Amino acid sequence: MSEDYVLGISAFYHDSAACLLRDGEIVAAVSEERLSRKKGDAGFPRRAVEYCLAAAGIGVSDLAAVGFYDKPLLKFERILESYLGVAPRGFTSFLRAGPLWIKDKLYIDRRIKEGLGHTGDILYSEHHEAHAASAFFPSPFEQAAILTMDGVGEWATASIGIGRGDDIEILDELHWPDSIGLLYSAFTYYTGFKVNSGEYKVMGLAPYGEPKYVDRIYNELMDLRADGSFRLNQKYFNYLTGLTMTSRAFDRLFGGPPRLPESPLTQRDMDLARSIQVVCEEVMLRMARTAHRRTGLDNLCMAGGVALNCVGNGRIQREGPFRNIWIQPAAGDAGGALGVAQLIHHRHLGKPRVVVPGHDLMKGSYLGPAFTPEQIEAFLRSAEAHSVRLDDQAMLEAVALRLADEKVVAWFDGRAEFGPRALGSRSILGDPRNPRMQAQMNLKIKYREGFRPFAPSVLRERVADYFELDADSPYMLLVAPVRSDRRIPLTAEQHKFWGIDRLNVPRSDIPAVTHIDYSARIQTVTRETNGRYYDLIKAFEQRTGCGVLVNTSFNVRGEPIVCTPADAYRCFMRTNIDALALGPFLLEKAAQPQWTDSAEWQRELEID
Ligand SMILES: [Fe+2]
Repeated sequence: MSEDYVLGISAFYHDSAACLLRDGEIVAAVSEERLSRKKGDAGFPRRAVEYCLAAAGIGVSDLAAVGFYDKPLLKFERILESYLGVAPRGFTSFLRAGPLWIKDKLYIDRRIKEGLGHTGDILYSEHHEAHAASAFFPSPFEQAAILTMDGVGEWATASIGIGRGDDIEILDELHWPDSIGLLYSAFTYYTGFKVNSGEYKVMGLAPYGEPKYVDRIYNELMDLRADGSFRLNQKYFNYLTGLTMTSRAFDRLFGGPPRLPESPLTQRDMDLARSIQVVCEEVMLRMARTAHRRTGLDNLCMAGGVALNCVGNGRIQREGPFRNIWIQPAAGDAGGALGVAQLIHHRHLGKPRVVVPGHDLMKGSYLGPAFTPEQIEAFLRSAEAHSVRLDDQAMLEAVALRLADEKVVAWFDGRAEFGPRALGSRSILGDPRNPRMQAQMNLKIKYREGFRPFAPSVLRERVADYFELDADSPYMLLVAPVRSDRRIPLTAEQHKFWGIDRLNVPRSDIPAVTHIDYSARIQTVTRETNGRYYDLIKAFEQRTGCGVLVNTSFNVRGEPIVCTPADAYRCFMRTNIDALALGPFLLEKAAQPQWTDSAEWQRELEID
């Protein structure tokens, strides 16, 4: 019997990706940025498609169907109507946005066919349908409520739906320009971070601030209803008409112009971050309650960029009405490639869905490129790098020893993760008990803002020993508090500290992964799903008694997570990482030959 291969593509907006299904099983999925090394690459995902086909050993002619994650004509209609609706204010920016759309986006069909060399039809799903599909179909639930939230697709900016067996149904949508994703992005812009990638920084900054502006947001910016839907007062925004997110009226309301990127953060920026985070959480909670009321189900699936707001997710988990929550790890637009492929598999090809209770179908999100020891060895030889080859057990012990000795180790193992989080395939690791680790990893290794917290990877069976959580969080998408008996209360003196000054006060016996408000963004790790990464944490636990590691993505600021051995070696050599485990090869920094591009590299970092 021949196999059905379905290729899903997301592209031309942000976060291009490809995903391949074989009889419904996810064979491969990867974002184009990992391969092109262009952060947020939005072009046609040629390399991602090539990788997916090669991983399955097939060619384009073997594909039963090709799908695209949104409907370009609907999106064009939205853009056109938005601009016409507010003309002549919108005219200037339409002239700039228009030609790009007409040339690059309206003829998506032709571009995909040309890009692929595919002669068959391209099937299109709606943007939020693709998000909803990616949330429900790979989940461990037979039935579930579905909540999607993002910036915008064609018209929808959020949706509530229901998944049952082989199909999903969208019940309700919130439409552009009322968008929680865009509201959050407006504050991201206003606090001086990059829209579409800096939202995470705003969330990380929020606990340093006070929710001073919450009332102003509710009174002036938005009309929030009990069901979580809302209207935004467009007088304060500029995304309909201009090339910035916020308007002069917004500046007046919050007392000044946007923070210039890279200028010092002030308490006001932190208060703004806290305020928008509080509002975002409230919207998320209300929408989740509405999804529960509309469906009457105890399971919730989530996707869309706002589902990466793991603080909000944690609140839905603790305070919301659902018993179980599952969140698509590639919750942003890359995950749309998976969603549309699954919709085609179930709806267009009419194939049944397999549900394994308690297990999702994402394979730990380890769906990207992997490299054999021979490939790694060939690279190391060409780079004239110094390494030793170790057997499995010796490698685990060598890395655990270094981590226990306060060293920072980069860990490159198996298939790259699909989605924005590093989950133990392309990770930089450290000892969470070390009070200096957070500052050291931020400033000397990641070259990023010192306030940003790190996440713990914890053995699943020990999660409740460290955190107020006893559930799975395999994709680092839930935030929960560190257990109160592990916290170190602030002294009277420290209580007087504000904002960033609190950063260097140890907050628990695992300070490197305890955020300023005692929260942690948790990845639970199991032997079954995470394999060698589990064994590594176990080896560290045997040596130290601590079943937790600091896990941050293997990249520096502004760069996509590393994908190949060459990317990994370059990042290792450009930073203060002490050792690199590259498959079965261990590399010590001190033993490596001189690295030469650091001056150019410093300039790149400054520009970012
Ligand atoms: Fe989206």
